[in-house]
Amino acid sequence: MWGGRFAGRLDSAIDRFTRSLPFDRRLARWDLIGSLAHARMLAETGTIPRADAEAILRGLSEMLRDLESGVLAAEGPDEDVHSWIERVLHERIGPAAGRLHTARSRNDQTATALRLYVRDALERVIAQACELIDVWVRQAVAHTETWMPGYTHLQRAQPVSLAHHLLAHAWSLASDVGRLRAVHAAAGTSPLGAGALAGTPHPIEPHRTAQLLGLPAVFANSMHAVADRDYVAEAIFACALLMVHLSRWAEEVVLWSTPEFGFVALDDTVAKGSSLMPQKKNPEAAELIRGKAGRVIGDLASLLAMLKGLALAYNSDLQEDKELLFDALDTASGALAAATVTARGVVYRTDRMRDALRGGFLTATDLADYLVRKGVAFRTAHERVGALVREAESRGCELWELPLPVMQGIAAEIEADVHDVLSPEGSVRARLAHGGPAPQRVAEQVVQLRGELAAARAWLSACTPPPIYRLHEEGRLLGQT
Ligand code: ARG
Repeated sequence: MWGGRFAGRLDSAIDRFTRSLPFDRRLARWDLIGSLAHARMLAETGTIPRADAEAILRGLSEMLRDLESGVLAAEGPDEDVHSWIERVLHERIGPAAGRLHTARSRNDQTATALRLYVRDALERVIAQACELIDVWVRQAVAHTETWMPGYTHLQRAQPVSLAHHLLAHAWSLASDVGRLRAVHAAAGTSPLGAGALAGTPHPIEPHRTAQLLGLPAVFANSMHAVADRDYVAEAIFACALLMVHLSRWAEEVVLWSTPEFGFVALDDTVAKGSSLMPQKKNPEAAELIRGKAGRVIGDLASLLAMLKGLALAYNSDLQEDKELLFDALDTASGALAAATVTARGVVYRTDRMRDALRGGFLTATDLADYLVRKGVAFRTAHERVGALVREAESRGCELWELPLPVMQGIAAEIEADVHDVLSPEGSVRARLAHGGPAPQRVAEQVVQLRGELAAARAWLSACTPPPIYRLHEEGRLLGQT
């Protein structure tokens, strides 16, 4: 590929150390698509002879078909997927292949393929995230009146509904969907035509290649185009934050499936056993979701560290972007698949949740709010209720089991209607303010989340393969648009 300048052969250790084909081979499909767009534009602008362009397009199209059918694999002694394409094309069509690399460098080529790859991968991760949100929303609908303790400091705090708790996780994932879509848009700038760093004197049309690739924008600066990896950093960050969200949910699956909590049981299909202890049922998928969050955070740290010292424009360090990006996307995708199956396999122990509503004086705040409504200042109410809690604790009873005269002895404003606010159910039902756990408010959240899901799914179905791919499938390689 660059033999003219060299008399000697590359040392084999250096070759092994520097080659990227073993991992960038997964870009082969996208690099062929990028090459089809480039070759077609070269022909349309008269940059290369039409007959050669036709041979190149036919050759690339056949390679793409063979790659997709499994007849052809991106492997060999080549240093990267880009040189693999050139070699195989040359073997198939002869010297005309030598014109494909006109007005192109591997620097803009690799960035083009990676952008196409990441957009496609993000679409799949977004679809998976929607599926998990859907599971939680369905479960929420079934549990808007399942009362349970909500926690702060991992101490029982106030009663909520299981639906409200599940939707809190769903909202985190909905924000991930928004972020992933934003990264998809950010990756939609075509760098093709930037050359090695300084553009080209050939009469190319980067807007045409961008259009053929279905990329909505074109690079503004050829140096920025080949040096920029913001879309990689943003994609890994979006995956890392998604993993952090899944991990926080997974931690609750682990915690809740202990006998100490007992809020959930795991279906046999999603739990694993112990080779030694016959009684064990372990939440291993949830543990590994939690564990794998760490490696995606590591991918992000590695990428940023790799980028921070790079002078403009392209540097070989940038080749390190791929394994980090692939790992982050693969891990997020695998974790979403496991989380969705696990979420479906969670059996909620509503009896245990109900039991946990006792003993923690979870409606103490409701009692204070009751006193506030009777005209007591909140700070005073807080203190009175503190005393009532102490009284109930010393009697070994619940707040709602305290005799009315005893309550009135501590807070004279208390009347018989106090019992409406003291039960966990009464507490949740009264929390009607915006975004709260009352069933009416939860129903609104469900409507809103379903709206977001529908919008994300509509967006996904509007994501189509690049126009050049359709032309390839239809065999309309040159001439017809
Ligand atoms: N394999 C390289 C990468 O992954 C492709 C670009 C190589 N460019 C170069 N001038 N060596 O980034």
